[in-house]
Amino acid sequence: MQQEAIQEITQAPTLEALQQVKTKYVGKSGLVTKELGALGKLPPEERRARGAEINVVRQAIDAALQEREGILKRAALDEKLASEAIDVTLPGLPLPAGGLHPITRVYDDLIGIYQRMGYEVVEGPEVEGEHHNFEALNIPWYHPARDLQDTFWLEDGRLLRTHTSNMQIRYMVEHDPPLKMVSRGKVYRYEATDATHESMFHQLEGLVVGEGISMADLKGTIAEMARGLYGPTAQVRFQPSYYPFVEPGADFAVYWNNPRGESKWLELGGCGMVHPNVFRAVDDLREAAGRDRIYEGMTGFAFGLGPERIAMLKYKIPDIRYFYANDPRVIGQFRGELG
Ligand code: DAH
Repeated sequence: MQQEAIQEITQAPTLEALQQVKTKYVGKSGLVTKELGALGKLPPEERRARGAEINVVRQAIDAALQEREGILKRAALDEKLASEAIDVTLPGLPLPAGGLHPITRVYDDLIGIYQRMGYEVVEGPEVEGEHHNFEALNIPWYHPARDLQDTFWLEDGRLLRTHTSNMQIRYMVEHDPPLKMVSRGKVYRYEATDATHESMFHQLEGLVVGEGISMADLKGTIAEMARGLYGPTAQVRFQPSYYPFVEPGADFAVYWNNPRGESKWLELGGCGMVHPNVFRAVDDLREAAGRDRIYEGMTGFAFGLGPERIAMLKYKIPDIRYFYANDPRVIGQFRGELG
């Protein structure tokens, strides 16, 4: 039996097969176990010798089982390691690189220019109160300028801001002059969309307040921005325009060389000297918040522009709606480039 058992053990091909052999011989009702159980039926004088004999067999089987188990386990481990081995020489899976959205790139250019001039960069709420979006900016409810900036209203009476100019108010309530800030963010208009109009777009607002700030400072600042965007020979043009929150107000344009080799004026945004009524509205809000009235008599300028215009020309994007459609054929062109 010992010989047979050991042969079966050394030939067991797998751990499962070995387990079966183990059960067959030394399990609860295995052959060796049965022999041990039968000892009781022997006459006492034979028991001892027979018991010793069976024990030798059992020990030999146990030792063989243990040895075989060790061999099979090692083999299984080797196989597992071999099957799970990583071939580090295989080329990796390509991971598509992201890229910055064209609007983000233009923002980065613009903000870089203003940061170099010492401006603080802020953002603000897109859901805004009527007061901050209109009234405090010298646009009372009856003012026709409201028609130009029709917007989306929330049921609680708030609205989606129509411009980033709301941040002029918020910033001045929180900060004392002298100050220089630009504010970036999304703005909304209730209007039909076409190739150059969207109901959501972006703006960059600028505000400088201090004593003795003049229109010359405004023009110099816009010219500096134009040179930052279009190189040292860029020129700027100011045309009188009307915005209720500035006086005088102007639209500004940059002379630039378009891809067809023509030089054209590109209308970029509006600007002007902060209207005294705006300072007054800020002081009223400050007073209500327990802060000093400090803006009356100050001077300052403000400007606002949209990065979409710049990005459409810079990246030759013919329709503003492409920016937000998440069409990979459009935005995929900006993959992997970070500037
Ligand atoms: N808020 C104006 C708009 O959305 C743009 C603008 C014009 C901003 C003149 C200004 C400014 O700060 O001085 O049409």
